[in-house]
Amino acid sequence: MLKALPEPTAYPRTTDNNGKLRTTPLNDWTEGFYPGSLWYIYENNKQNTWKQEAIRWTEALEPLKKQKGHHDIGFLIYCSFGNAYRLTKKEEYKQIIIEAANSLCTRFSPKTGCIKSWNYRKSWNGKDEWFYPVIIDNMMNLEFFSWASKASGDDRFRKMAISHADKTMLHHFRDDYSCYHVVSYDTITGMPHKKQTHQGAADESAWARGQAWALYGFTMMYRETGKPDYLNHAKHIASFIMNHPNMPVDKIPYWDFDAPGIPNVPRDASAAAIMASALIELSQLDKSTEAKSYLDFAEQQIRSLTSPDYLAAKGTNCNFALMHSTGHFPGKSEVDVPLSYADYYYVEALMRLRNQLKNKSL
Ligand code: GLY
Repeated sequence: MLKALPEPTAYPRTTDNNGKLRTTPLNDWTEGFYPGSLWYIYENNKQNTWKQEAIRWTEALEPLKKQKGHHDIGFLIYCSFGNAYRLTKKEEYKQIIIEAANSLCTRFSPKTGCIKSWNYRKSWNGKDEWFYPVIIDNMMNLEFFSWASKASGDDRFRKMAISHADKTMLHHFRDDYSCYHVVSYDTITGMPHKKQTHQGAADESAWARGQAWALYGFTMMYRETGKPDYLNHAKHIASFIMNHPNMPVDKIPYWDFDAPGIPNVPRDASAAAIMASALIELSQLDKSTEAKSYLDFAEQQIRSLTSPDYLAAKGTNCNFALMHSTGHFPGKSEVDVPLSYADYYYVEALMRLRNQLKNKSL
């Protein structure tokens, strides 16, 4: 991939309908994943050439620290500069992440108690209005906020992270612990006024990657806060995922657990990679007898992803590692393709599994 893309101006995202590499400039939510993957590879092999590339592809993202127009700044800045700081301890990176956290703070409202994902918009079908849409993916920002509090001594970020997680736990989940993709809040009452989907099969369906973000988010928030409610919630989400009757034998979920046409529908390898990474961490944090089942499930997912069914042969797949992810099925976009975030969480899961086997956590 480094040979195919010599300059950090076009970031690998996926492939197009003709199987050609599709990149993004600094205008989307995914640019942080490629530098993040480079940092994990450098962490694994400790070779300076990989570090230099990771630095180049990370530092080009600095202007994004001022992004206030959407919530994806955690993915953009924490996967890149967060890993950069973790592995180099360079003070300049710390300041960039804190500035980015201050940008994201502008999207938090004390009225709703959570971070606004998108600005006011119409729903996926154009029939409804979303005043203050919060998507489940937003849980992934909370590690970035928690880190920012520890690094800056400013407790505001941590308090916002806890408030966001509490509101999400209260409003995003159904009785079976599956979650909605989008909850839109009424800005006057601060309460949800719509619970719908954007990338899922239906408002009441369980979009696979949404369940993965939820599992990862609550597991990570338990690590960051030690609050037992978050651990219990993560365990319930894990149970929903692992025991779902529509989970295929190879443990790589269909793009939505309730997709019409199962089993003849595309999978989402990105959801499996995110789930595997989260389940390894859950197995480390949970002290119950269920811990081993989380690790076993994650290992099965990683074995499937590492088989020729999902892992591309070198030099194919436009140099992405994984095949068979789904970005936005209802939008007929990125269906059964490679995705940069599938690769990022796959590499993270491999690092976590390797460290687990060495008996230390990441
Ligand atoms: N955060 C967007 C997605 O998961 O597709």
